[in-house]
Formats: sequence, structure tokens, C-alpha cells
Amino acid sequence: MAKKPTTPLTRLRRRARWGGLSLLLALGSTACQSADDAPQSSLNPAGPYSDRPDQLWDLTFGIAVVIFVIVQGALVFALIKFRHKEGRRAAQFHGNTKVEILLTAVPALILAGLAVPTVGTIFDLSQEPPGAFRVKVIAHQFWWEFQYPEQDIITANELHIPVDTPVRLSIEGATSDRVDGSAEVLHSFWIPRLAGTQDVTPGHTNNLLIEGSEPGRYMGQCKEFCGLGHAHMRIVAYVDTQEDFDRWVADQSQSAAESASGDAATGRAIFNGEEGGGSQPCAGCHSVDAGVDATPNTGPNLAHFASRSTFAGAVFRLDFDNPEDLAAWIRDPAAVKPGAKMPDTGLSDDEIQDVIAYLETLE
Ligand code: CUA
Repeated sequence: MAKKPTTPLTRLRRRARWGGLSLLLALGSTACQSADDAPQSSLNPAGPYSDRPDQLWDLTFGIAVVIFVIVQGALVFALIKFRHKEGRRAAQFHGNTKVEILLTAVPALILAGLAVPTVGTIFDLSQEPPGAFRVKVIAHQFWWEFQYPEQDIITANELHIPVDTPVRLSIEGATSDRVDGSAEVLHSFWIPRLAGTQDVTPGHTNNLLIEGSEPGRYMGQCKEFCGLGHAHMRIVAYVDTQEDFDRWVADQSQSAAESASGDAATGRAIFNGEEGGGSQPCAGCHSVDAGVDATPNTGPNLAHFASRSTFAGAVFRLDFDNPEDLAAWIRDPAAVKPGAKMPDTGLSDDEIQDVIAYLETLE
């Protein structure tokens, strides 16, 4: 067969192929670059319980790269060396016992070798160090409750932990939803820069160790599909310096402000259902008392609502200077967060503004 002449069309095709490959490589490298400042990345660990799994990943990835290069190298070599030539016929045979034994034994050995550090890491990560700080986590549709039993603190969606301190999270799956009593579902707790994931099962308590080595703000996310609000079930973890953490504990332990006046006083009356046209008083579900035993606990405890930076499953930024999001949430929760279990309060715009003025006093 005569050699194909190079036409402008084949040249164009070749160029398009190289162009496509370069584009893929460029996209790949930008993805790697931006991973460093991505807020949720398990490849950018910020504590020992995320660093160990990351080391395991590095090892596995390194081995995978070596295998990839060997396999693809052999493939390219065979393609070139045994390519079609005039008068040459490919050898025809069925099976090769030696090669097949080799191709079974080598991957089996590699997997067995990888199992050693993997199993070791799993056991190490579950060893609770003495004196670990304790926090109880309860997963709800679609928000997280955090209880500090020894400090008698309760909060929602925003977790504070002291720096360089191992923390044992006892993560509990509620058996029925507090709002309507319907069966609760699976969730999964994940703050990628601080630890691996922990599945949450209704009626069970699972433990997860986390620790932050650098003070800062770390985003997390429910990682198990749990319904309409799954994507809006986020976590903010603050790794605080010991001083900041002690101050936070002292603030959160205090009872809520009683100093509401003017609009805020009106807002408090509306909140409690003593005034205004709301069909469901806020106080029917939300407590403004501090402490883990404060009731009602159907919705998140709001004793120190204004001290948080987010609300509604850490989806919206809490900003009392621009409270449009908060107003929209109070007006019709499910409209801004699909699946939200908080009912429409039926409050007028003026009443909502008064309630917001009251919420701002809950520091
Ligand atoms: Cu909770 Cu997904």
C-alpha cells in the first residue's frame, strides 16, 4: 500500500488533535493550581487527622503514576514496534500462561502492599488520645447541632474548637425529625481540611477525631444525599487560638441579652407570639436560653444567634447591615432554601424587620 500523501485536511486533523491534548493538559494544570486556595480540599490538610489520609493518598497516587507510565509506555512501544509493515503478518496465538500469571500476581501484590499502610492508618486514626476535647454533633434535615456537654454550650452549624487539641466528635443521627416527627435519614459529616468523612446513621453514635493545627475558618458539608436541602447543609468550623476559644466559651455560656428596646422589644414580643400577626411564634421552635437542655429545641438554638457569621445551615452570610437574606429567609424559608423545614411565619415585612432587630441583640 502506498504511503498516504499529507493533505491540508490531514494536517488540520493532526493540529486539532495536538490542540485538544494541550487544552486538556492546560485545564488539568489550572485545576491543580486552584486546588490550593479552594475552601474545601482534602488535599490541603490543616491537621493531623487529615494529614495522615493525605499521605496515604500521596503514596497511592505515586504508585498509580508509576504503573500508568509502565503500562502506557509498553502500549506505545508495542504500537510503534509492531505497527503494520509491508509483507509482515501478526503472530496468531491463544493465551500465554506465564504472562497471565504475572498479570494476576503483580496487581495482587501491589494491593496487598497498599493494604498495610491503609489498615494501619485506619487504626491510628481511631485511637482517641487521652484528654481529647468532646463535642456532641446531631445531624438534622438540614442543619447541624453542636453541644459541648462539659461547657454546657449549644450552637448550630458553626463549630468552634481550640487549636492543636484533638477533639472527639460524637456524631448522632436523630431517629425522628423534631419538626414533624418523620423518620430521619442518613447524613455524612465532612470538613475536608480537618478530617475524613463520618457517616451519620439514625439511632447510632459514631465517633470522629478532628484537630486543627492552624487557627482559621474551615468549611464543611454534609456528604450523604439526605433530601432537598442536602447541598445546603454546610458546616463552618473555627479553629480558635486558646484565648479566642476561652472567650467564645465564656460568651456562649452566658444567658441571652435581655436588653431589647424599641424595635427590638417589639421584635421580641413578635418572636414570642405576644404581639403581631404571625401564625407561628418563633419561640415555639427556637429557644433563646443558653445551655444544652434549653427547650424548645425543634429548631436551632438562637441564644447567641448574632455571634454567628452564617444562618440556615451555614448557607447565608449573617450581616445585620444588609439583612435582605435574613428577611427573605424569615418571610418564606423554603423559597430560599428548598426543603427547609422551618414553616412560613406569616409575618409582615415590618414585623420581620422588628424580629431582625431583636435577633441582632442575641449576641
Ligand atoms: Cu444531610 Cu446531606
